[in-house]
Amino acid sequence: MDFIKQLVEKKGPEKSDYHALHVEIERIGTLLDHPSASIQYSDFLDIIFPVLSVETMQGFAFHKPHGYSGDYEIIDRIYRKWKSGKEEFRKWDEFFHAQEAPIAVRNRKKFFLDTLVSSAQFKEGMHVLNVGSGPGRDMLEFFQENSDSRTSFDCIDYDRDSIAYAQELCAPYLDRIRFLQKNIFRFTPDREYDIIWSAGLFDYLDDRKFVFLLGKLRAYLKPEGTLVIGNFSRKNPTRKYMELFGKWFLYHRNEEELVDLARAAGVSDRHVHVFSEPLGVNLFLHVSHSSSPAGD
Ligand SMILES: C[S@@+](CC[C@H](N)C(=O)[O-])C[C@H]1O[C@@H](n2cnc3c(N)ncnc32)[C@H](O)[C@@H]1O
Repeated sequence: MDFIKQLVEKKGPEKSDYHALHVEIERIGTLLDHPSASIQYSDFLDIIFPVLSVETMQGFAFHKPHGYSGDYEIIDRIYRKWKSGKEEFRKWDEFFHAQEAPIAVRNRKKFFLDTLVSSAQFKEGMHVLNVGSGPGRDMLEFFQENSDSRTSFDCIDYDRDSIAYAQELCAPYLDRIRFLQKNIFRFTPDREYDIIWSAGLFDYLDDRKFVFLLGKLRAYLKPEGTLVIGNFSRKNPTRKYMELFGKWFLYHRNEEELVDLARAAGVSDRHVHVFSEPLGVNLFLHVSHSSSPAGD
């Protein structure tokens, strides 16, 4: 832990320290996984606490000012590569944004936008349900790029502050975006959708809730519609950094596990595909409607 102590004293890692820091975080994380570890998490926290200010990305993750991990504000800070104005935290924020997980989050926004514009219904306009919609930057960028589009979004998020933030960000496009402050488990849609998208939500759900919600949402697809569920892969090299510095825990799943969960929800294999963003860190489970052309 001396290496991390030194980095804290010299106000954060230089790029040339990144590899060694990653190796050290893996080593400490693996050590702490063992009940008989010679060190405790609290020893580690004592060392890094000065750089867990809420004014850093990792400290924001750790302190959870909105009460839960992965809130709209940290996600939007990831999209914007937000960095603290304070010199003593800047290098830590640069390190944060250089990690694979934040890059994969930025890549998944692009994946969503690509999914929308490559959809067969894109030209005539689609109805999209965005579940756990967060900051709304994805929809803002969609309409900035496609200002004449007749596509409309229904956005579900249970966090009132998240809804308010997204409403303000997407203000020019509220004629085509409807925000609903609801818990998705208790929400009943009043229509069917061409695309149902959910990123950054299912990887907080255990298998039982995952299967339940997948089955529930699929029922609201139009016959040609697609449900797309994002989930962090087990190949997430940033996992231990997120857990140790940010107490940010996810259900990581591999492709086979995602397909198994779709099967458990009653979806036949021909209706299921798994894609990924370029790093392979964020996976996307695609599920089509049971009466789609690939159908039973
Ligand atoms: C990690 S953020 C992802 C935001 C957005 N999908 C994105 O990728 O930019 C997850 C969002 O889901 C919302 N959320 C989590 N559980 C929810 C639930 N059961 N019902 C509705 N919203 C939920 C949170 O409030 C948060 O805004």
